[in-house]
Amino acid sequence: MNSGELPPDLVDCLRSARHVAVLTGAGVSAESGIPTFRDAQTGLWEKHDPMQLASPEGFEADPKLVWDWYQWRRKLLAETSPNAGHEALAEMAQHFDSFVLVTQNVDGLHERAGSKGVLELHGNIRRNICSRTFKPISENWMAEHAERRPPPSPHHPDGFARPDVVWFGEALDEATLEAAFAAAADCDLMLVAGTAGAVQPAASLPSIAHRAGARVLDVNPAATDISRSADWYLAGPGTQWLPTLARTAGDASRGPAGTGGEDL
Ligand code: OAD
Repeated sequence: MNSGELPPDLVDCLRSARHVAVLTGAGVSAESGIPTFRDAQTGLWEKHDPMQLASPEGFEADPKLVWDWYQWRRKLLAETSPNAGHEALAEMAQHFDSFVLVTQNVDGLHERAGSKGVLELHGNIRRNICSRTFKPISENWMAEHAERRPPPSPHHPDGFARPDVVWFGEALDEATLEAAFAAAADCDLMLVAGTAGAVQPAASLPSIAHRAGARVLDVNPAATDISRSADWYLAGPGTQWLPTLARTAGDASRGPAGTGGEDL
């Protein structure tokens, strides 16, 4: 199937769906040059121990190592831009009554592409919080203490600045998670893109949507458990399929199914 062809029943679904929920993972940012976590050879967790770099215990054991690793990822991010997949998702939002974008990514590329109200389940790497109190730390404070690795916290004498991301063993923000569950339970169509579906609770969102009666579509170059249980699986990268889906949704919003999308 090439990028111009979508299954007819998927086109119908894109035309009739009113409430759409989206779950994205590292794969949607791969074509912006941000490494994924679990892809063989290139995945971050193929090369680094997640418990050392992405856990409170790892940070406690070697704050400088963890800080420097996140600073490397931040530098990488500063040099990248959203890709056609991020842009397609931002555009797609206008074609439905509701469109809730839930992401596991901490890179902020969805917002940079223009998506609004993104539910960032795992936080955002650009922000910093205190390692002891979890209170936000201002950019001014960070700039004033930039030479320290990691900078101290203004909120606790034994605290350090750390990225505002969810580490292994830490709880997700409750309100964000509830909003994500609600979007999955209330949608007609759940679009999943670029996730291996290996991390809970994010990985359960497609099955919540399915159980509530929604259709599920997965976009991924490599099939996952989510692809296998989805109503449609589009094999290929996000930059190939997401623009096609956005275009089709746009055609659909100009007219009901069967009109060929012409203005009425
Ligand atoms: P993974 O690295 O586990 O999975 C990335 C997925 O993207 C794989 O299924 C790839 O096949 C797919 N992929 C690769 N290139 C792609 C492309 N161009 N277009 C579309 N898909 C592509 O990343 P996540 O599923 O996002 O958590 O991982 C979930 C969480 O595990 C992350 O948020 C992170 C990690 O540990 C935390 O850091 C808390």
